[in-house]
Amino acid sequence: MSFDQNQFDSILADFTIDSDELREIAGAFRYDLKQGLKDPDLSSMRMLKSYIGLPTRKETGEYLALDFGGTNVRVLRIRLDGDGKFEVLKKVAKPLVVAGEYNYIAADATADQMFGFIADLVEEAVEGDHTKKYYLGHTFSFPSSQTDLYNAKLIIWTKEFATPGVEGKVVNDLLKDALHKKGLDNVEPTAVINDTVAVQLAAAYKHDNVNIGCIYATGHNTCYLEPYADSAQEPMILNLESGGFNRLTPGRFDVELDKNSEKPGEQRLEKMVSGRYMGELFGMALAELFDEKGKAYGFTSIDMSAIMDDEDAAHPAIIQLVAEKTGHTIDAADADKVQDLVLRIVNRSARLVAASFTGILWQLQGAEKTLAPQTIAVDGSVYEKMPHAKENLMKGLSELLGTDAAAVETVLENGGSGLGAAIAAAVAASRK
Ligand code: BGC
Repeated sequence: MSFDQNQFDSILADFTIDSDELREIAGAFRYDLKQGLKDPDLSSMRMLKSYIGLPTRKETGEYLALDFGGTNVRVLRIRLDGDGKFEVLKKVAKPLVVAGEYNYIAADATADQMFGFIADLVEEAVEGDHTKKYYLGHTFSFPSSQTDLYNAKLIIWTKEFATPGVEGKVVNDLLKDALHKKGLDNVEPTAVINDTVAVQLAAAYKHDNVNIGCIYATGHNTCYLEPYADSAQEPMILNLESGGFNRLTPGRFDVELDKNSEKPGEQRLEKMVSGRYMGELFGMALAELFDEKGKAYGFTSIDMSAIMDDEDAAHPAIIQLVAEKTGHTIDAADADKVQDLVLRIVNRSARLVAASFTGILWQLQGAEKTLAPQTIAVDGSVYEKMPHAKENLMKGLSELLGTDAAAVETVLENGGSGLGAAIAAAVAASRK
């Protein structure tokens, strides 16, 4: 059996966004942002205050950094030396899920287990030292509403996390309790930031004009420095929670995926662009082509990368992967189609991210004739590792910004979650 051409074309069309539509989405993003600045309830994005601006680059000293935002938790001891210089003195990392052993992100796990596990990791990072005083910066990569740099309440889990007893709680209080139970009162959590904010802080410690920070990985989100030009308020980084942006028309696979997700209706943009979901979208489309609608094959974005990487005209790697995951043997012509489908999904993702950046850049430009130089800091496996993601993002920016695209640079800030958390801890310490 080979794929039906009409059905294939219609699936491809479902994942296609043309130039006009992309421009409309960028405009809608800017509109949503402006509405959110008036009142977050008017926006599909949460527009969360971070209570921190850009670093002065004079931040120095030794801090603990906790990076908690995906299935891998990391704790680092970092020494900041100022002016973009720093050294990682110790790094420990462990997954929150080990298949067949434990799973701290599932609905039957508890907050105590989750934070107890993290406290153990902190203990490892300080090498069992229960006396030396440490300030800890916490990169917590979920939507949290803050009242200051310490107090961050988890609004809602994303990325299919389901552990009960954390939503609605001040996450650093949970962490503090867990540290106390382990006798680690010498470790004082002082700051919580989103990972986008961490990436922006880390990049701004080293580069100029970093007004935007983004994560393009398992999850997706962007923050920017709101200048509050017309008010007395100090500039502050706003975590847009842009993954929640929904002023765009989802395709039928997006609708279906959302319906079956942990949190239907939430994170509509994220479910179209991020690594956690792209493999699923691809699998759903493939299931239709195999006339097995509804079957989940378990494709991941890593599989999608392998499919894009198979440049051999006979596509042996694609044929093998599809056989392993679906039980179907396809010929080279269909393997070509499989590759086109993957490319289209990744291309759509990158273009949507470009549209969201453009919306922010237009907002920053305001009524100015030209766009001032802008450095966008990005971290994440999709941006860093997925073939064609970065290239399509840049193309999308050029398509939307025209000659102004020359003013925009993107920098990869991997490791930003750790460095950014240390910088936030330093800022918190300076406010004490
Ligand atoms: C979360 C954001 C986070 C992003 C990237 C999203 O699911 O809502 O807070 O920044 O993932 O980790």
